[in-house]
Amino acid sequence: MLKIKGVSKTFNMGTVNEKKALNKIDLQLEEGDFVTVIGGNGAGKSTILNMIAGVYPIDCGYIYIEDENISLYPEYKRSKLIGRVFQDPMMGTAADMEIQENLAMANRRGFGRGLKWGIKGNEKEMFKEKLRKLELGLEDRMSSKVGLLSGGQRQALTLLMATLQKPKLLLLDEHTAALDPKTAKKVLQITKEIVEADQLTTLMVTHNMKDAITYGNRLIMFHEGEIIFDIRGEEKSKLKVSDLLQMFENAVGEEMDNDTLLLSKD
Ligand SMILES: Nc1ncnc2c1ncn2[C@@H]1O[C@H](COP(=O)(O)OP(=O)(O)OP(=O)(O)O)[C@@H](O)[C@H]1O
Ligand SMILES: [Mg+2]
Repeated sequence: MLKIKGVSKTFNMGTVNEKKALNKIDLQLEEGDFVTVIGGNGAGKSTILNMIAGVYPIDCGYIYIEDENISLYPEYKRSKLIGRVFQDPMMGTAADMEIQENLAMANRRGFGRGLKWGIKGNEKEMFKEKLRKLELGLEDRMSSKVGLLSGGQRQALTLLMATLQKPKLLLLDEHTAALDPKTAKKVLQITKEIVEADQLTTLMVTHNMKDAITYGNRLIMFHEGEIIFDIRGEEKSKLKVSDLLQMFENAVGEEMDNDTLLLSKD
């Protein structure tokens, strides 16, 4: 579903601020893979997601989604294939538009500007049904402005919007990190339900090692712009936080502590 081959990225090349963020990344995701992504601050997690989404051009290598080489596609063209949710609950939705208007906008993604903005009756029913499944009571507030919602409600809505037109790939960059623990758990549960129901191929960045172990069928760890582990299937399901810490220490020869890695263990 996703194939990344030899992708590197250096920011501010040739200046004193030169920073190699990604070093010859190879990564292949099968259809339906739900991959959790961990690693310390500055390891390259957001950069790889940004490369896939086309936020910045890659220095070398290529990126395929299914059989399509998207390496040179502009960001807007990739957005038809990719759903994204970021850390900031304010980013994915339009605050001064109604819940149902936001959903209608998401439902027209990739269909050009010719379409009318009016919400059709059958669409409304579909939105209501999808909102009901979130169990946040939003199905009764479809004409409320999104700006009135809590951070968690907005992230849940953003998730729904990102997946309304089934994307080939779903990219989640610490999308629960700005929420309180209880809300984060709820949004993660919703994420799991949506990903499993639609069998979405997903990359989910998290700083929480426990979540990285609990969710998904595969786990990758970034360190200094490289993938240092890629664990899947049964091996992943048996993994404990202490194993991950040990593997990190073995791999990079330094103790994982909060200064170097800043990974939350609970
Ligand atoms: N637009 C940019 N311009 C310059 N440097 C950048 C840019 N984006 C990222 N970097 C640098 O690239 C490296 C990788 O950053 P990235 O954001 O991918 O890390 P991360 O793994 O997502 O970390 P965090 O857990 O803190 O979000 C860092 O050193 C960062 O400072
Ligand atoms: Mg990041």
